[in-house]
Amino acid sequence: MPEETRILIVDDETRILELFKPLLEDFGYYVRTAAAPDDALRLINEDTFQIIYVDQHLGPMKGLDLIAKMTVRDPGLYFVTMTACGSTDFAVEAMKKGASDFLSKPFFINDFIKSIEYVNKKRALDREKAELIISLEQKASEKEEELKGMYFSVLSSLAQAMEKKDIGTYGHSRRVGHYSRLIAATIDLGEEDRERLKAAALLHDIGKIGITDFILGKNGRLDSQEMQEVKNHPMKGVEILTPLKQFHSILPAILHHHEYYDGSGYPDGLAGQDIPLLARIITVCDTYDAILSNRPYRAAGTHEKALAELIKYSGIQFDPVIVKAFVYAEKKYRRMFLDADNFHPGMPSGLYETYSAGLPG
Ligand SMILES: [Fe+2]
Repeated sequence: MPEETRILIVDDETRILELFKPLLEDFGYYVRTAAAPDDALRLINEDTFQIIYVDQHLGPMKGLDLIAKMTVRDPGLYFVTMTACGSTDFAVEAMKKGASDFLSKPFFINDFIKSIEYVNKKRALDREKAELIISLEQKASEKEEELKGMYFSVLSSLAQAMEKKDIGTYGHSRRVGHYSRLIAATIDLGEEDRERLKAAALLHDIGKIGITDFILGKNGRLDSQEMQEVKNHPMKGVEILTPLKQFHSILPAILHHHEYYDGSGYPDGLAGQDIPLLARIITVCDTYDAILSNRPYRAAGTHEKALAELIKYSGIQFDPVIVKAFVYAEKKYRRMFLDADNFHPGMPSGLYETYSAGLPG
């Protein structure tokens, strides 16, 4: 059984109302009528309609103004304008303002029925379209959630693989993620880039998985071949992550995190702004943490020494803007720098926010 169509006809010509109401009811439609705009507005408040037929002239009020008022009250209504013969301009204007159809006076009952059937088809199509959009949006958001879940499980698997290989590297990466987060907040980095930076900082040294334990743990100086193997780790990182589509956007940051601002770094000798921004951030945080860490071949440096080193090589090894942001962040959030091991990018955000209250951006 098709859904009953409920119609309201608004016309100050009462003979039109008197003529068409019983005729349409004979065809099974629910019909109410209003001879004045106020009556029409009252009726749509107290009853339910799908299609409103509105005459062009309603005494002092224009049909279009009434349609606008009714639309505000119920955006789901469909309108058809009834125009005097020859007033097609009005009909066109009404269609532009959202009317679904128009009836030119004089019209007959079969014209009216055809119009109702036409609007009903339009309603059905609109409904189908809306349902399709909702279901597509639902599917898209489910897919997005699924991908996000996958992304984080891959991220944590990779981080665990790093931990197994070399616990120091994993702790280092977590701290680099933490400092990067503070820099990102200081320079007001966009939300998407912050997410990328978090992952890139955590995985920047993932390529070290491919370096032999002998070289990683060597107590003396590396020979040139060993040094070359170490220098290959950004490329190896890219190789490891390339099959994982979700990580494609962070590959440039991983590949270039050992470039120098003056162009003397590796692997490509990029300089200045040609080095991806995320890589320029990671390289500053990476160096800061490396100086603070014990290495097989030297003891850990102090916080002051690490800062002095960043400033000394600002504009040579590092982007001066990022060094400035680092120094600024370090002054403002000193405790978060000194306590870096207690923070990492994956920690519950509530705890992080407690400490980072007042961070800009
Ligand atoms: Fe590295």
